Amino acid sequence: MKRTLLTIAGTLVITSVVVAAGAYAFVNSGIYDVSATTPHSRMMYWATHQTMEHSVGRRMDANVVPAGLDLPTEISAGAALYVENCVTCHGSPDRERSAISQGLNPQPPDLFSATREPDPAENFQFIKYGVKMTGMPGFAGTQTDEQIWALVAFLNTTPGQTAVDFAHATGIRPTSRPSDLPNQEN
Ligand code: HEC
Repeated sequence: MKRTLLTIAGTLVITSVVVAAGAYAFVNSGIYDVSATTPHSRMMYWATHQTMEHSVGRRMDANVVPAGLDLPTEISAGAALYVENCVTCHGSPDRERSAISQGLNPQPPDLFSATREPDPAENFQFIKYGVKMTGMPGFAGTQTDEQIWALVAFLNTTPGQTAVDFAHATGIRPTSRPSDLPNQEN
């Protein structure tokens, strides 16, 4: 019995040492391709995406959604902050994505897609804390909670938003320049 236990313990120790040495050698070998232009393998995508979803899901319930996110003043404050901080990556309804946005892996999600159902507590979590190793910055250090809630208020209005709505909210003219927009001069 004692010998069996010793054998099991010995095998576990040796296996752990071999696995740790293998992981160390792999990390130092340079074999893993970190290029943003090389897509994640399916397994890596699944593992990182699941980790992110569960991590955000576990933390977002602590964010108490304030009243008044549907106020026009709140939405327009968020629209201005969006143009300042987010448009480079998340884009706008009718413009081609920036070179920065196109070069990111994973790609920043389309916040204007008509099928999106924004969850304010979840969006607050994403904006305030960001997501490691994806390019999504955390804005906790630079924006107040009030500013982040204003961004959340704006994101409540973006699903299905047209270029014209976006232009009215932000003052950025769409490339197609429909005639009912303010500031049509170049
Ligand atoms: C440098 C590029 C970059 C900037 C700037 C950026 N984001 Fe992101 N954002 C990303 C990427 C990449 C993801 C995807 C993260 C992932 O896959 O886990 C993301 C994810 C998100 C999500 C989660 C969407 C979802 O449901 O999956 C929200 C919400 C979001 N960003 C909002 C914002 C807002 C608001 C701003 C500005 C205050 C902003 N982002 C600025 C790159 C960016």
